[in-house]
Formats: sequence, C-alpha cells, structure tokens
Amino acid sequence: MIPKPIVAANWKMHKTPQEGVKFLSELNNLLLDKEMPSIIFCPPFTSLFHMNEILSDLEYFLGAQNVYFENEGAFTGEISMNMLVSCGVQYVIIGHSERRHIFKESNNDINKKIHTVLKQEIFPIFCIGEKLDDRETNNTRKVLVKQLEEGLLGINKDMMSKIIIAYEPVWAIGTGINAVPNQVEESHDMIREILLDLYSMNIANDIPILYGGSVKPDNSEELIKTKGVDGFLIGGASLNLEMFSGIIENVHNNSMR
Ligand code: 13P
Repeated sequence: MIPKPIVAANWKMHKTPQEGVKFLSELNNLLLDKEMPSIIFCPPFTSLFHMNEILSDLEYFLGAQNVYFENEGAFTGEISMNMLVSCGVQYVIIGHSERRHIFKESNNDINKKIHTVLKQEIFPIFCIGEKLDDRETNNTRKVLVKQLEEGLLGINKDMMSKIIIAYEPVWAIGTGINAVPNQVEESHDMIREILLDLYSMNIANDIPILYGGSVKPDNSEELIKTKGVDGFLIGGASLNLEMFSGIIENVHNNSMR
C-alpha cells in the first residue's frame, strides 16, 4: 500500500489525453523537489495510455474510474482489468456515487468489480456514502453498513490490506457544500467501527479512508487535520492546477499521520 496521506484526482469525464499530459507536466514543474503526499491520477480511460507514458518518469500513480467484471467478450462499451493493467493502471475507483446513481450499479456489481480488481493485484478505491435524505432520516450508519457488507462480501482479511475506502457523502459531491470536520470524523469513525465488526482492529485502524466531496484549497486544511482522514478523493478542484497544487501543499503541511 502506498504511504498515507493519499490525494487522488478523479477527473470524471474531463480532459483529453493531450490536456491530461500537459496538466501532469505543469503540476510536476510546480511541485518539483517538494515533498508530497502520494498522488493518484484517475483520468478518463482514453487518457490512461498516454499519461502512463510520462508517469513512469514522475512520482505519481495512475488509476482508472471504473472497470467491468468480465475478462473479455460481447460487452459493448466496457473495459476489462487486463486492458487497464496493460495501460499501467495501479488503482481503480469502484462504486463511485455517479456509477451507483446515474448508471444504476448495485452493491452486487460493485462487489464483483472489487473481486476482479483484487485478482490482478491492483488496488480498489472503494467509494461509499449516504444521500441527503439518508442523513436527514438518521440512516447514515445503516447505509454505510449495507454498502460495506454487500460491497465487501467474500473479501478476506488479506485482501482488505489492498483496499482504500473513499467516504463521499452524495450531498457533498460537486455541490460546493463539503461535510464539516465533525461530520467527516463521525462518518470515518462509523466506517472503522463497521470494519472492526466485519474484520479486525488492525484492519479498521490501518485502512486508508479518504474524504471526498467539494474539497477545495480553503477547506482542505481543516479537513486533512480531521481525525481519521487519510487523504482526499477530489473531483472539480483536481482539474485546476492552482487549486489542486494548493490542496496538495495543505495536505503535506497539515497531515497528522
Ligand atoms: P467534487 O470534488 O467535485 O465534489 O467531487 C468529488 C468526487 O466525486 C470525487 O470522486
């Protein structure tokens, strides 16, 4: 597992391969010779090959935003793990809320994908999080229990050492309204308690849990100082050089772990 803190950029459906490569070299020039957190770039599929070519000279990691659970076959529009590995992918985001809600991915689909990723010795970034009405009806824990229990079905203790969790409350994604530190601390504690029930104290304590949802340079300092936060999964702000490098510097300067 890469060292904490971890900053992962989820570019969603943004940037061409040329724009992605340019962003990487510009970021590298900005951060040159500075000590950094571990940084994972998750661009669209179409950028993976090209970004991997320049990433091998840089100290960043490469992730994909999704994968299909079959190896090959008549699955128009899908991408397999072999294809991702051949592009140098080391991480795969699984179960992002946009996959769950727009593309109707179920916990069962997500579970199959986590198994598929782990079979290739690649690290899943497993996303979980409640919707606004779950929170308002005091169902956050219930939702997280279900997502974790069903998403991790059949995943044993050894396999758990390769998983990164991203807690992304749906109401905070792309809204400009981040969860405040005490909400984040409470949810990360809940996740560790659930993992203690399902696995062990070591796994619950050691697993990296990233926070995602409207992370920006100006809230990143208090969020990274929050107990139980091992880094971020960042959407919008990871597309902008100044914002992304600002967050990286705040993580570097304020990380507790
Ligand atoms: P924003 O940072 O744009 O809120 O997106 C968060 C996210 O979905 C990262 O996966």
